[in-house]
Amino acid sequence: MTPEFILVTPQARPQVALIQLNRPKELNALNLQLMQEVAAALKALDQNPEVRVIVLAGSERAFAAGADIKQMAGRTAIDMLLIDQFSIWDQIRRTTKPLIAAVSGFALGGGCELAMTCDLIVASETAQFGQPEIRLGTMPGAGGTQRLTRAIGKARAMEMVLTGQSISAREAAQHGLVNRVVPVGQFLEEAFRLAHSIAQMSPVAARLAKESINRAFETHLDEGLHFERKNFYMTFASEDQKEGMAAFVEKRKPDFKGK
Ligand code: HXC
Repeated sequence: MTPEFILVTPQARPQVALIQLNRPKELNALNLQLMQEVAAALKALDQNPEVRVIVLAGSERAFAAGADIKQMAGRTAIDMLLIDQFSIWDQIRRTTKPLIAAVSGFALGGGCELAMTCDLIVASETAQFGQPEIRLGTMPGAGGTQRLTRAIGKARAMEMVLTGQSISAREAAQHGLVNRVVPVGQFLEEAFRLAHSIAQMSPVAARLAKESINRAFETHLDEGLHFERKNFYMTFASEDQKEGMAAFVEKRKPDFKGK
């Protein structure tokens, strides 16, 4: 079925797919259907052997202004529990390929959380990151208190979450929330450039490295180092590792096949 609220381009660039949130009148507010479409697209692209890196973008005006307030407003706690619409977000975490958020304009509430669920963030100069849920009498519910704290530290996360104030793209870069900030006309192209440089690498090694970095947030150092070492050894089962090291010795560019 053709998605209604997103646009999917499996080969936006060679080996790089693009998912674009496309609910412009509502500033890409994340309703249940939109998130189901994102999850389904990510699953399909993750299984598509032609795709090595995925870019997730909004528009210039808004990456996403949060979960859909109008959809949630009248719900009871039990409605929220039974619908459990945010469990669909687990699919984003299950994506094994590198996922880059290309953020311009508003990245608020669930929009900020969606960007932080990606592996890297390229921001335009107009990007604003914030968790304004407190102003609605609620709080972040899709990783905001956890990922923001890990990314920018407790004091800054507390201030953002407790006051609802946003930070600019520059501040986000200074505090390590985003990878880079570029002029607004270039944010998507810059995300593609970053995606392209990752797509040149061994997809097997990229997958294992991504998994290992994510493990750093989930476990203690000893277990994380053990996990990393196993994944490192595992790369030696790939043809890509043989190709990468042979290319170095032969002084040529490697050609990684993802096997
Ligand atoms: C539903 C939204 C929306 C949202 C904007 N719109 N954000 N609809 N849910 N989160 C709609 C507006 O109602 C309006 O529609 C249209 O988009 C344009 O928005 P305006 O407010 O007219 O634009 P502007 O004046 O430029 O202000 C932009 C804005 C503001 C600062 C982003 O819209 C805003 O504060 N939005 C809410 C941000 C927020 O609180 N996000 C957190 C949501 S809770 P109409 O039809 O009225 O013209 C959340 C919980 C996460 O994310 C839990 C886990 C996922």
